[in-house]
Amino acid sequence: MMESHLRCPTPGCGQESDRNAAEYLCPSCHGLLELSYDYQREAAERWPALWRSRGPGGSSADRSGVWRFREMLPLFDETDQVVSLGEGVTPLVDLPRAASWVGVELLSVKHQGANPSGSFKDLGMTVCMTEAVRLRARVVACASTGNTSSSMAAYAASAGLKAVVFVPRGAVSGAKLAQALDFGARVVEVGDNFDQAFRILRELAPRLGLYLVNSVNPFRLEGQKSIAMGLLEQCDWRPPDYIVLPGGNLGNVSAVGKGLRELAELGLLTKMPRLVVVQAEGAAPFHQLWSTGSSELTPVPDPSTRATAIRIGNPANWPRARRALERTEGLTAAVSDMEIEAAKRELADCGIGCEPASASTLAGVRKLRLQGLMERGARVVLILTGHQLKDTDYITERPAGAAIRTAGSTVEEVEALVRPWV
Ligand code: F0G
Repeated sequence: MMESHLRCPTPGCGQESDRNAAEYLCPSCHGLLELSYDYQREAAERWPALWRSRGPGGSSADRSGVWRFREMLPLFDETDQVVSLGEGVTPLVDLPRAASWVGVELLSVKHQGANPSGSFKDLGMTVCMTEAVRLRARVVACASTGNTSSSMAAYAASAGLKAVVFVPRGAVSGAKLAQALDFGARVVEVGDNFDQAFRILRELAPRLGLYLVNSVNPFRLEGQKSIAMGLLEQCDWRPPDYIVLPGGNLGNVSAVGKGLRELAELGLLTKMPRLVVVQAEGAAPFHQLWSTGSSELTPVPDPSTRATAIRIGNPANWPRARRALERTEGLTAAVSDMEIEAAKRELADCGIGCEPASASTLAGVRKLRLQGLMERGARVVLILTGHQLKDTDYITERPAGAAIRTAGSTVEEVEALVRPWV
């Protein structure tokens, strides 16, 4: 693992910070700190072969789809002390039917729902929780639309730390809350949306000595950037033209963007894929910023969408997300709840389940094609961020739920009901 420093990435600042301070804001300009590495380009040539050699049969770190790439992760004193649940081993699946539905050459999904707690958050949490243990934190905390809380609760349980979760009142799927509770987290309902819960937690965390694990924490991004390494390895280092992600607090696009930038600096990327951020129309401040070319983000005070995971009006990571899009000639799209539902239906018809926020990626590609902003010959990878079972209310409450029929109790009654379908 590499020697790393906490550094402010804001152009014109670059201030270095003490890694032991559990800080995530630059003391000079209040930008979000990031980890930077003293990489040696020559050494990186042999990394793809080294990474390939790790996996089944190796140590717990070797079997993790995050720590396998540890040459690009921050240094920890005892490598075998990582808090891992076997995260990051996720499939890349080609979907030719969905490709023709949207009208592109090749469409694949990288399914983060296959992670231990069912979402991409586990990739960040393994690194962040390892750092929490190194700093001897006692209590970890997050504000969440649900997935961060499930993931944090799982990794905190594994590390033997207490976990406190702030969620917006009545706005988080029951399945995600159930996970956090099952893993023993304390769950507090705060405010009506993520932004309110997050603002209060950011004020309270230093007062109560809570270690904050939201995506403003630089270690979260380090783990999540391994999506880039894992995906490129699965593509045999031939990058797709586009990588498409749903955008909420914008940590994940920042992380994948950082991974791509570092791979390019190391000479491991032959061509830079374009990053695409898709937001729900009722919660699309970043799409608004990017499509109008404004210099500052205008928060959406009352964000709304049925894709509750991305119902966020004031994303903390927007400056670094914007830099990631600038570096990759990125694109954004905003899609309606109806478009998300149609895309989710299409994925389900291909045998791929995911939560609504994840399906927004397919809806976004369809829209960009219709708008003529993406070419027919495009090779596209969607990052599906969460498992189908994360939000079953969404499925059973919508018209598809009405497809459930109740039959009588005799064989004849059931036969009469089922015969017309077969
Ligand atoms: N997709 C899913 C399923 C999510 O849970 C989230 C974020 C996103 C996409 C957006 O990712 O915030 O990095 O832009 N969920 C957070 C949470 C906010 O609390 O679970 P982002």
